[in-house]
Amino acid sequence: MTDPPVKLDADAVRAAWDRAADAYTHGQTTGRDYYRYDFLGPAQAALCGDVSGLRVLDVGCGSGYLAREMARRGAHVTAIDISPRMIALAREMEAAEPLGIGFQAIDAAEIGGAFAAGSFDMAAACLALQDMADPATALRGVRSVLRPGGRFVASITHPGTDTPFRQWERGEQRRKRWLCIDRYFDRVAVEYTWTRWAYEFTTPALHVPLEDWFAWILAAGFRVRGFHEPRPTAQAIAAQPKLADAARVPYYVLFDMIATADATTDATFAPATS
Ligand SMILES: C[S@@+](CC[C@H](N)C(=O)[O-])C[C@H]1O[C@@H](n2cnc3c(N)ncnc32)[C@H](O)[C@@H]1O
Repeated sequence: MTDPPVKLDADAVRAAWDRAADAYTHGQTTGRDYYRYDFLGPAQAALCGDVSGLRVLDVGCGSGYLAREMARRGAHVTAIDISPRMIALAREMEAAEPLGIGFQAIDAAEIGGAFAAGSFDMAAACLALQDMADPATALRGVRSVLRPGGRFVASITHPGTDTPFRQWERGEQRRKRWLCIDRYFDRVAVEYTWTRWAYEFTTPALHVPLEDWFAWILAAGFRVRGFHEPRPTAQAIAAQPKLADAARVPYYVLFDMIATADATTDATFAPATS
């Protein structure tokens, strides 16, 4: 089974992120998004390693956080996002700090038609795949534009804790006791309402079990070189105590994938379709 059992509507995804773009970007540029700056971003950049001189594609780049990190480290970066407003904001930042990044408003499901085969040495996606209407098609497209042996380093929210039902049980003084989760095996569209940003916004996402992600990755023609569940460092927790939650239960997953020469499906990884 290589197609998602549930798909989002790509137009609705684009519209939601267009509405979200200014508040989301404001949250990043003001440091409000400390999960990105103090925790996941550094972990993902470290996993990407030395990118100097590499042709890198940032998939679902938003307003360009990871693209800029890679370009500052010497990569030649192309960055795409489905949201024209995100791309406009990314271009504004590129104008203020020219890093040679080519930002383009493209749906990741169309990457295969937008770039020639083997155009990139590496691709990265920071918390974007689970927000896409059709991650399986996006993965196939990314594999097709990577040179054989090229890496794809992608983070998603952890399907084991970012479940359709999720709630911290609290005790005395509202201290978090444990995280209650349910409906892990659901394959469903979920909605996130982002509060405490410059304005409130809602974005759709897919929740599927981890086995579906592995099935899509392998069917797209990637080999999984590494699978990581990053934890914030002690220094990061000292600076942002709220990050301590993410040292108790895993919040994110990082896939380290290698593009094979041919897409092959390993049927033993096909998830149940019920
Ligand atoms: C949570 S944001 C992450 C943005 C950025 N990678 C970052 O780390 O700040 C998810 C992004 O995925 C983008 N996105 C969703 N579906 C997409 C698709 N089909 N193709 C390209 N981008 C998509 C959204 O527009 C949004 O910018």
